[in-house]
Amino acid sequence: MVPVPWRAVPAFQTSPGMRDILPPESARWRAFDRVFADVVERAGYGQLITPLLEDLGVFTRIGDATEIVTKEMYDFVDKGDRHVALRPEMTASVCRAFAEHRPTTPWKVYYSGSNFRYEKPQRGRYRQFDQVGIEVLGADDPHLDVEVIALASEFYGRLGLQQVTLVVNSLGEPDDRARYVDALRSHFAGSRDALSEGSRATLDRNPLRVLDSKRDVDQPVIDAAPQIAEFHSPAAADHFAAVQDGLRALGIAFAIEPKLVRGLDYYRRTIFEFQGGTLDSAQNALGGGGRYDGLVEALGGPPTPGVGFALGLDRTLLACDDEGVFAAAPTPLDVFVVDVTGGLEAVTLTADLRARGIAADRGYDNRSMKAQMKLANRSGAAVAVIVGDDEIAAGTVVVKPMHGDGDQFAVPRSELATHLAPLLATRLDQNRTAP
Ligand code: HAM
Repeated sequence: MVPVPWRAVPAFQTSPGMRDILPPESARWRAFDRVFADVVERAGYGQLITPLLEDLGVFTRIGDATEIVTKEMYDFVDKGDRHVALRPEMTASVCRAFAEHRPTTPWKVYYSGSNFRYEKPQRGRYRQFDQVGIEVLGADDPHLDVEVIALASEFYGRLGLQQVTLVVNSLGEPDDRARYVDALRSHFAGSRDALSEGSRATLDRNPLRVLDSKRDVDQPVIDAAPQIAEFHSPAAADHFAAVQDGLRALGIAFAIEPKLVRGLDYYRRTIFEFQGGTLDSAQNALGGGGRYDGLVEALGGPPTPGVGFALGLDRTLLACDDEGVFAAAPTPLDVFVVDVTGGLEAVTLTADLRARGIAADRGYDNRSMKAQMKLANRSGAAVAVIVGDDEIAAGTVVVKPMHGDGDQFAVPRSELATHLAPLLATRLDQNRTAP
């Protein structure tokens, strides 16, 4: 291997929109996943793990009016001549897995992992980003939409977020949606010259998405646009009313946002979004979801209703930072072993402690007592266990509480665990009950 010459600026850096997640931030990511799993497993959801890479066709079924399909896909032809893509989201993969395995319904699954979209990177918008989410396939019940929304809301609550608002809308049955899209197309076409250039381009691809425009110049035309509720069939209106009744019964605050359309083509009937109070409006969607009856069929499965959501981990953690909640907590260390003899004591002591379920780390390279004690301090360990030549000769070790709970004392090495137990009691209990 030819070494790359040393430079102040490293020769390689992560690609734009992709990041390394270092400890202790990575511990926060794991805790985020754990809290999410805890919330949804209690509601009967099991984890589904799908590949990062799928046949491109799985994602083109999301719809060719969807930007993540037309502009943002990481797709390539592999060595076996297959046209594949890194997943831009997970709902399509879940439906592909359902069509492939045909599990019994309702199929309640949750997921967690990275997705890839070739977007313009900025705060809260990355090319590799993580989501957690749930999907339920095979049930049409509006009370399921309520359950799904309630679980997302419970999760935000468990993180401690208080400034998250829920907006809901219904896109109606497929026919309602199609009639609405036609009406919007004529409305916007009639005022085409008053629209921004960006919205004129969006109009040609997908009139619904013009409603998403945040540009001031577009607002009067958007405000005058027809509203989806005027196009709801009685069945769609009833379904949406039942969802609202369910949310009220659970005391979940929401606002109906008639202009909410969401960016994916597969939605039918209920759609919803959770918006953060602290991020820029372009990135304030912390998560969203809805019904996508018809997607399983598009992927070669039987007619199957579906509903779910995905929550962006990256944006949700930014919202947590902004609200000062769910802080990064490094994995707590119980014991730091300081061995200045250069022998095998630290090797066997740390192995013994770890085997007893005690989190133990140590100093390396036979550094001085002072340097190793500095490391012990920095490690946050509750106790330092110190071994020098005198201790080896006497068959003892020195136990030094690090956080002001008493003086250091020597104990026979064979009795170390017994003496550590009271010093670590509260910590070990806390670790056992941590989320
Ligand atoms: P989505 O709205 O495209 O929906 O993404 C859900 C969440 O993922 C967003 O609200 C946002 O927090 C996060 N997200 C999306 N793109 C990025 C990005 N470039 N950088 C950082 N975070 C991002 C879906 O993906 C649907 N599959 C949701 C769903 C599930 N619908 C039904 N079931």
